[in-house]
Amino acid sequence: MTHRIRTASSVAIIAALALGATACSSERADTTSGGSPSSAAAADTLVGIAMPTKSLERWNKDGSHLQELLNKAGYKTTLQYADNKPDQQITQVQNMTNQGAKILVVASIDGKVLAPALAAAKAKGIKVIAYDRLINGTPDVDYYATFDNYKVGQLQGEFIKSKIGDKKVNLEPFAGSPDDNNAKFFFSGAWDVISPLVTSGQITVPSGKAPATNQQWTKIGVLNWSSDTAQSEMQNRLNSFYTGGKKVNVVLSPNDSLALGIAQALEGAGYKPGPDYPIVTGQDADKANVRNMLAGKQAMTVWKDTRKLGDQVAKMVDEIAKGSQVQVNDTTSYNNGVKAVPTYLLEPVVVTKDEVESTLVTSGFYSKADLGL
Ligand code: BGC
Repeated sequence: MTHRIRTASSVAIIAALALGATACSSERADTTSGGSPSSAAAADTLVGIAMPTKSLERWNKDGSHLQELLNKAGYKTTLQYADNKPDQQITQVQNMTNQGAKILVVASIDGKVLAPALAAAKAKGIKVIAYDRLINGTPDVDYYATFDNYKVGQLQGEFIKSKIGDKKVNLEPFAGSPDDNNAKFFFSGAWDVISPLVTSGQITVPSGKAPATNQQWTKIGVLNWSSDTAQSEMQNRLNSFYTGGKKVNVVLSPNDSLALGIAQALEGAGYKPGPDYPIVTGQDADKANVRNMLAGKQAMTVWKDTRKLGDQVAKMVDEIAKGSQVQVNDTTSYNNGVKAVPTYLLEPVVVTKDEVESTLVTSGFYSKADLGL
């Protein structure tokens, strides 16, 4: 990690020197003068990191990894979790602003409610990076870093399509939290692959919960990505629509927390791991879900190596603090209703039980012991 951040720093220094006086002023941090050594830029800079919740494994990893990287590079940090409560996150952002943060990194809970808090931050010259989830309806978000969210859903849809081949199947679709800007991308990516098969009659949705259009995904959205809500919804669908020996063959789950609840419901209804167990998708490679994959209770997960996202965001922070040009690779896809936010997109990866060792273990994301291997 130290090596990586040093590398990022030297790249940024070279970029800053190369750009010299031509660097656009909007890309300069208000607190630094060009050409200063990274340690000086870092020492003056408090970075506020606002994360959504400690209740999901990934955000704990995200927060601690980013904080560690920034601290190693000499930045001061304050890391806050908001228990999935939008009001609490607003207060935390306000507090970070008042504490003198120069840069805010925000993984929003509700992407639509932060605008006033960010306007106050902007008035103090604070730069804002949206982390993983876009913040909507505000000009005051400067950059966005995330995994390609549409691709996440597309990978889930394509996985299902390739697994079912030309078999006729019963599928139940789920979508993520309606207040999370990512959820519509996940759903659209998957549904663009799946809905033609629903139209052709290869896929049946016995519960009738197939949204007629991508825009109607919120009807099957699970607030706060709750495992418990997903479990009871799946139980209801199984009890109401899978009677008389009818079986569900596929469950489109947008992420691992939902997949966990869905697997519980399936188990409760008597589904046993084996060739007839439904194909259940996921996202995040949470530990419990990787264990479920190894136990045959989940077919795949889309792995987003949160360390890479942290590395990227730490690099952006460093670039902002030093007044270098902030590197992005997508300037059109993520319009927040006010502007297209300059974005750095990372690539998500499909992991099945066969790739657990070669991806998650080899990369050090988990140890064998973590996974009971
Ligand atoms: C993230 C997913 C995560 C979900 C629930 C989304 O915004 O991109 O990785 O599973 O939130 O926390």
